[in-house]
Amino acid sequence: MISRYRFQAGTVGPWRIDRISAVRGAGLPAAARLAILPEPDSPPDGGAWALHGVISNLRYATGDEVAGLRAVQPGLGRAEARAAALIPIRKTQAWWDLPQDARRAIFEETSHHTRTGMEYLPQVARRLLHSRDLGEPFDFLTWFEFHPAHEAEFDALLVRMRATAEWDYVEGEVDIRLRLD
Ligand code: HEM
Repeated sequence: MISRYRFQAGTVGPWRIDRISAVRGAGLPAAARLAILPEPDSPPDGGAWALHGVISNLRYATGDEVAGLRAVQPGLGRAEARAAALIPIRKTQAWWDLPQDARRAIFEETSHHTRTGMEYLPQVARRLLHSRDLGEPFDFLTWFEFHPAHEAEFDALLVRMRATAEWDYVEGEVDIRLRLD
């Protein structure tokens, strides 16, 4: 199974890039389209920029949380989900220096990441890719798909997430919004 993907911005791809906003730290150059390509099968196309990530194992979710997520989370590629967000995120060295149990406690017991996020399911489909161990500029690539009518709710989720203790450890975040056209 291919688990490494390239998010290639440039002039081709099914997704039209509507806006790229730097939330924390540097942004990314403007581009017209985005393609999500499995690697290593896809040759470089010299587009505006590319970010890489792998689908990895879970780090923090408990058995109960995983069961709860599986019961409600939709898959990617629903016909009605013609809006998407790609949000690359980099956390601080202070985060990575914490032991696993302390990171889990900030992530869930203090910040309620999963509990809050579940309120927005099944409207939002999501995928988390890990990039840190690839030496990429971001630690994570987060990808979300939803009906365009649910974009305001998704924005409200972002406001709540960015106000949490977890986000005190976010030093790089870019919010990229896309549409299928
Ligand atoms: C839509 C509802 C959401 C749900 C249900 C959700 C759920 C989760 C879960 C369960 C994990 C833990 C995975 C693991 O155990 O390793 C996770 C990780 C993560 N999520 Fe979310 N999430 C949601 C929305 C978001 C949003 C909007 C963002 C970004 C703006 C985001 C960014 C992240 C990041 C960066 C991680 C990795 C954290 C780390 O490993 O330090 N999530 N999410």
